Amino acid sequence: HSVAVVGAPFSRGQVRAATRADGTLSLERCHLKDFGDLSFTNVPKDDPYNNLVVYPRSVGIANQELAEVVSRAVSGGYSCVTMGGDHSLAIGTIIGHARHHPDLCVIWVDAHADINTPLTTVSGNIHGQPLSFLIRELQDKVPQLPGFSWIKPCLSPPNIVYIGLRDVEPAEHFILKSFDIQYFSMRDIDRLGIQKVMEQTFDRLIGKRKRPIHLSFDIDAFDPKLAPATGTPVVGGLTYREGLYITEEIHSTGLLSALDLVEVNPHLATSEEEAKATASLAVDVIASSFGQTREGGHIAYDHLP
Ligand code: ARG
Ligand code: MN
Ligand code: MN
Ligand code: MN
Repeated sequence: HSVAVVGAPFSRGQVRAATRADGTLSLERCHLKDFGDLSFTNVPKDDPYNNLVVYPRSVGIANQELAEVVSRAVSGGYSCVTMGGDHSLAIGTIIGHARHHPDLCVIWVDAHADINTPLTTVSGNIHGQPLSFLIRELQDKVPQLPGFSWIKPCLSPPNIVYIGLRDVEPAEHFILKSFDIQYFSMRDIDRLGIQKVMEQTFDRLIGKRKRPIHLSFDIDAFDPKLAPATGTPVVGGLTYREGLYITEEIHSTGLLSALDLVEVNPHLATSEEEAKATASLAVDVIASSFGQTREGGHIAYDHLP
């Protein structure tokens, strides 16, 4: 299995800075190709849209470059891991991925729905809005931001499932309900258990037809006790075991084609331990997505020596 790794240290989708989760990545039984860290140009005089939505041009251009890299990696036969950076980078990774696999589906693991439009956002941060630019059916409600003219929405509501939601704004809730977008909130996980949640996720997305999976994993889906070094922590999140169960099941489908691991921000840790714990959790999520199991595994043994 060949895996491309892209570092995307975006920080302009939110006000605070974010960086690539450092922590060296090595994946058993995978050939890793490092596509390097993208160096993004912050556009000078990048005035807010509507006096509210911050850094639209920087976010737009950075995502345009990222989409190129991801589409090159996926076309080259790699599964593509993008390490963020804030969640606005999913605009570029999903569009880039969809250029090669237009039939992809998205599993969005997050405390947040990230589906505000530039007109419904309260914070003005684009990391709270990426899905609004990607969903075709929503486009008559989404104004074009400066720097976003290259964007072609590539998703439809039936091809998206959320897991882990617990901080959804009223306008976002209205969008989820009116477009019938499936989500499993933390409450749903409490009720059903993570096993049924994954079963129903796959029924919805790949029940009828196998298709590539794009996993967009926001580290803030985990409980802040496990992932403190992130910009918008919300209490009551996934346990370590629930998080890894999600990625183990996704690996088992054999369909994982791209993964975003976002919102790891060591600068927001209050201690070295917090930064390390969050980064190593991120590495566990990636390793598990590509086949590292908690039960162990073997390749070289036919029988015991
Ligand atoms: N809903 C809030 C907003 O729109 C928070 C979004 C947090 N997003 C994230 N990718 N951490 O600003
Ligand atoms: Mn292919
Ligand atoms: Mn989030
Ligand atoms: Mn997010």
